[in-house]
Amino acid sequence: MKKITVLDVQRFKDEGRKITMLTAYDVQIARILDACEVDMILVGDSLGNVVLGFENTLPVSMDDMVRHTQAVVRGRASAFVVADMPFMSYQTSCEDALRNAGRLIKEAGAEAVKVEGGVNVAPVIRAIAQADIPVMAHIGLTPQSVHRMGGFRVQGRAEQQRQKLIADAMAVEEAGAFSVVLECIPSELAAEITQRISIPTIGIGAGRECDGQVLVINDVLGLSGPFRPKFVKQYVQLEDIIKKAACDYIEEVRGGLFPGDEYCMK
Ligand code: KIV
Repeated sequence: MKKITVLDVQRFKDEGRKITMLTAYDVQIARILDACEVDMILVGDSLGNVVLGFENTLPVSMDDMVRHTQAVVRGRASAFVVADMPFMSYQTSCEDALRNAGRLIKEAGAEAVKVEGGVNVAPVIRAIAQADIPVMAHIGLTPQSVHRMGGFRVQGRAEQQRQKLIADAMAVEEAGAFSVVLECIPSELAAEITQRISIPTIGIGAGRECDGQVLVINDVLGLSGPFRPKFVKQYVQLEDIIKKAACDYIEEVRGGLFPGDEYCMK
């Protein structure tokens, strides 16, 4: 398959072809998603809660993101790889933002970075984009703002919030973002934003009118425990499948059945 570039992502919106994105954090999943011809792979800072076992994304470091992005980049051939900028890697100054975005491109091999926020991060987006690093924005429910939001809740229901999100979307486009994630906002608001801006919108819990969709791969695979947000569709229950395989192995070892002759060296 042909390598996906930032130009293709814009072209998909212009042609009305839906854009697909999934998260990955390691080489094997990246290899599988790439073979499925997903358009974009996001190395999300959801790494923190999904893979590293933290309560939220706040403890994720730049070194964590670099390491996992490197693994994903090794596993993909065609997909466009976007790496999340973790909490406090871009909020402190445009200089810090640029240096850290540069690490994700130079050391880790990402092709774009993602930052959370709207009007408030427009100067950061501008600084990174001016260094020729494609930036994806992320508005609505922004997990790095969990303490300000008072939890993970739908954003943009009240009129004032709604207007703020429209202003955020316009600000990130104006600052030079190549695309924007809309997380957990009413479908009708996501549709309006998608109409009003010319860069692609990628929805998660934002309805079907977005230009594309993203989900966390562990949620899709049934590997994220009992908590399941309303917007997640679980396509398979891998937890049960893995449990069965591990239990079968344990039983066979305990019963002296594994390794059988075919697995033994002569
Ligand atoms: O970190 C992440 O996985 C994300 C997606 C949920 C969009 O930001």
